[in-house]
Amino acid sequence: MDNNRVYVFDTTLRDGEQVPGCQLTTVEKIEVAKELEALGVDIIEAGFPISSPGDFQSVVEISKAVSEPVICALTRANTKDIDAAAEALRFAKRKRIHTGIGASDMHIKYKFNSTREEILKRGADAVKYARQFVDDVEFYAEDAGRADNEFLARMVEAVIAAGATVVNIPDTNGYCLPDQYGAKIKYLMDHVSNIDKAIISVHCHNDLGLATANTIAGIMNGARQVECTINGIGERAGNTSLEEVAMILKTHHSLGLHTNINSKHIYGISTLVSTMMRMPVQPNKAIVGRNAFAHSSGIHQDGVLKHRENYEILNPEDVGIATNSIILTARSGRHALKHHLERLGYKLDKINLDEVYQRFLEMADQKKEISDADLQQLMGDGDEKNYVDKAIKLMLLQVVCGDPLRPMATVKLKINGEEKEASAAGNGPVNATINAIHEIIKDDIDLDEFSIQAMHGGSEDVSKVNMRVKYNGQSYYGFGYSTDIVNASVNAYVDALNKIY
Ligand code: KIV
Ligand code: ZN
Repeated sequence: MDNNRVYVFDTTLRDGEQVPGCQLTTVEKIEVAKELEALGVDIIEAGFPISSPGDFQSVVEISKAVSEPVICALTRANTKDIDAAAEALRFAKRKRIHTGIGASDMHIKYKFNSTREEILKRGADAVKYARQFVDDVEFYAEDAGRADNEFLARMVEAVIAAGATVVNIPDTNGYCLPDQYGAKIKYLMDHVSNIDKAIISVHCHNDLGLATANTIAGIMNGARQVECTINGIGERAGNTSLEEVAMILKTHHSLGLHTNINSKHIYGISTLVSTMMRMPVQPNKAIVGRNAFAHSSGIHQDGVLKHRENYEILNPEDVGIATNSIILTARSGRHALKHHLERLGYKLDKINLDEVYQRFLEMADQKKEISDADLQQLMGDGDEKNYVDKAIKLMLLQVVCGDPLRPMATVKLKINGEEKEASAAGNGPVNATINAIHEIIKDDIDLDEFSIQAMHGGSEDVSKVNMRVKYNGQSYYGFGYSTDIVNASVNAYVDALNKIY
């Protein structure tokens, strides 16, 4: 075994997808899984099969669609969960069951109402049971970040003896400092007698902004698998970002460690995940944020032009960001549009380029220059993303408003092929439009949350709207964009309706 090789375990589709509003359809998950394969990840955690029929089916379909990476399914330490995972993984060419239980006294007492000895046995029994189905079993010692190191070492030894091939030491609550987490991994490397029979994995959460630092501390002390997500998405403050860890290892040759990641795919998959999950990347996010390679102060611009490395430790092209950009404007042709869509990770065989080009021209007519973010908005709202025909389509929107006019809206929707039209008044143009939609839909839907944002600023800018609506006690999320704020709002509302129906 190459001891300098760090295995990359991606959990975007499991830990990342747990974020409210980020849920993907099975078709979308397959798309992300294929891009993860192209990126070169070693293991894809495809879901938690017992948690829902949708998650189960996603693990089945990803197992069929992807051949190179190991496909992993999460379970708790019980036979029912493990049976479901084994069944969901039946088509995977290379498969892993990821089972585990709490390791901190807090979890043992207040989550399981149990004792250390009982928990040790349950953990080892789960590993033995899972090994009946697969040769590759990973064990997670939940809340290991706050667990007593001596007990943790006994747990790791017991599960390796029971057949675990990988042992995950999660800092579930993002509590540890880098030196504490590094010391924890070192303690295990030094005190677990059978440690050479398994790989130690690091899984860090970002509650204190330390996920990447802790992950690197873990690797520097002997861990050889990193668990991370694209853009660092995940519950609360998120998980470790895959792109940060991959680029740290690529940049710091002195660590002498390497991964199988093809870094040129990083920007494409980052934009794909951000668009599909409707989770914008913060502009100053390391590696993939809009400003990550933007130099605005005169001194820095001058320095970069003289010698790029004066102010850039990474080459943007290494992560798939084109620097000699072909700028997109209303005069650009289909070829330029195609070039940028491909660079952003869109699958051209699934896209009706002529139709996208018409929408691109409409947007470009209203803006001087079309940025990557604009293109993502353009694609994110289209059928190309889901590759399915939407049940509800907006055919017409007419709004009258002003001072002292009473806002009125007329809306025509095509619902499963049938056109329906209604008009309504409201206390503003958006309210009037939503009232008109309600006249057509006649269902009990509440608009729970509404946010509108300009992409960059400026009155000619594209606005994006995020909405949350409630129907039958369940929340649904919608997203829309347009240079017209009423249109963007209706697009978001119709997007949410399509999820309901
Ligand atoms: O953070 C965590 O502890 C986890 C485990 C389920 C692996 O995600
Ligand atoms: Zn986690």
